[in-house]
Amino acid sequence: MRRKATLITGAAGEIGQALVDSLVKISDQQLITLDIQPAPAGVAGKVIHIQGDILDKSMLSRLVSEYEIDTIYHLAALLSTRSEFTPTAAHQVNVEGTLVLLQMASEQSEWRGSPVKFIFPSSIAAYGLPDIETKTNYARVREWEWNYPRTMYGCNKLYCEQLGIYFSQHYRQLAADRPVMLDFRSLRFPGLISAFTVPSGGTSDYGPEMLHAAAKGEAYACFVREDVRIPFMAMPDAVTALLRLTAAPSSTLSRRVYNITSFSLSAVEFRDLVLKSYPGAQISFEPDLKRQAIVDSWPADLDDTPARRDWGWYPDYGVERCFVEYLVPNITKRYHPA
Ligand SMILES: NC(=O)c1ccc[n+]([C@@H]2O[C@H](COP(=O)([O-])OP(=O)(O)OC[C@H]3O[C@@H](n4cnc5c(N)ncnc54)[C@H](O)[C@@H]3O)[C@@H](O)[C@H]2O)c1
Repeated sequence: MRRKATLITGAAGEIGQALVDSLVKISDQQLITLDIQPAPAGVAGKVIHIQGDILDKSMLSRLVSEYEIDTIYHLAALLSTRSEFTPTAAHQVNVEGTLVLLQMASEQSEWRGSPVKFIFPSSIAAYGLPDIETKTNYARVREWEWNYPRTMYGCNKLYCEQLGIYFSQHYRQLAADRPVMLDFRSLRFPGLISAFTVPSGGTSDYGPEMLHAAAKGEAYACFVREDVRIPFMAMPDAVTALLRLTAAPSSTLSRRVYNITSFSLSAVEFRDLVLKSYPGAQISFEPDLKRQAIVDSWPADLDDTPARRDWGWYPDYGVERCFVEYLVPNITKRYHPA
């Protein structure tokens, strides 16, 4: 018999590390982490780590010959800024990689006669508001509004959401027998801020970058204008949301893709919060007009009513608690250990 397991792709990344830290404490299943990077520190002996590429189908076949994959957290991706530099590579990893995993999860769902849960982090990059006026008028965007991404990454995310819905609801719709289909669930995350890892390659990175630079005593030039506003969330809330959505009974879910958010800040409000804790921080604004235009197309805030209603989503960290209890003490400790 194969052992039941949870697979986490992209486990060495920012969300992956935080998620795996939580899963090792609460999961009763074998955890298998997969990343092109080595296993994150601190999980040795607690997970089986495969250093490999999600596009490697023979590696995945070997994996399912040994384990009955019950849940997949598919986090591996190329993020928004990187994807603009290498759009074809982004398509390969973000779309084709997701397709390979969806196909594997579909086959596994049929084999075992019960749906594999496929948890997929999407993003505010799936939205694309055409101009600042629209961004001001549509402050709290709902899931079905303004799905016109202007980045390769956003296009990839939006399409993968649709692929996930297809594999959950319409896969092999012309076949004689209705297959057991996978159970796709997705969260559109705002910009995430972690106290323990430094972001790389995202376009909302200016928030966390300000904080980490301030804690290190380094000057930082923010690449967007002062008034640019987007939603953010503390990493522990992102992990809670992933776990809560995974645990929600299917009968309570009215959608497969949910907005979630915690607080919205303009870049200057973010700077002011950083200055409160690090009064000597040197933060200037030197907008990169091209990256700026991407952030301008993202919503100022998200309407997360369906997530709150269907599976009890709420953030534990509002802006004050996020900075005062989570970010500032932990980031300070990271650069200035006692
Ligand atoms: N961090 C955020 O603010 C944010 C917001 C919205 C959505 N997301 C999504 O959450 C997921 C995780 O994001 P993150 O911030 O942890 O990103 P990250 O860049 O820190 O981690 C991604 C991980 O995927 C791995 N990876 C990339 N290509 C791979 C491949 N071909 N095979 C195997 N592994 C591969 C990388 O090595 C990396 O460890 C991504 O899908 C991202 O799009 C993140």
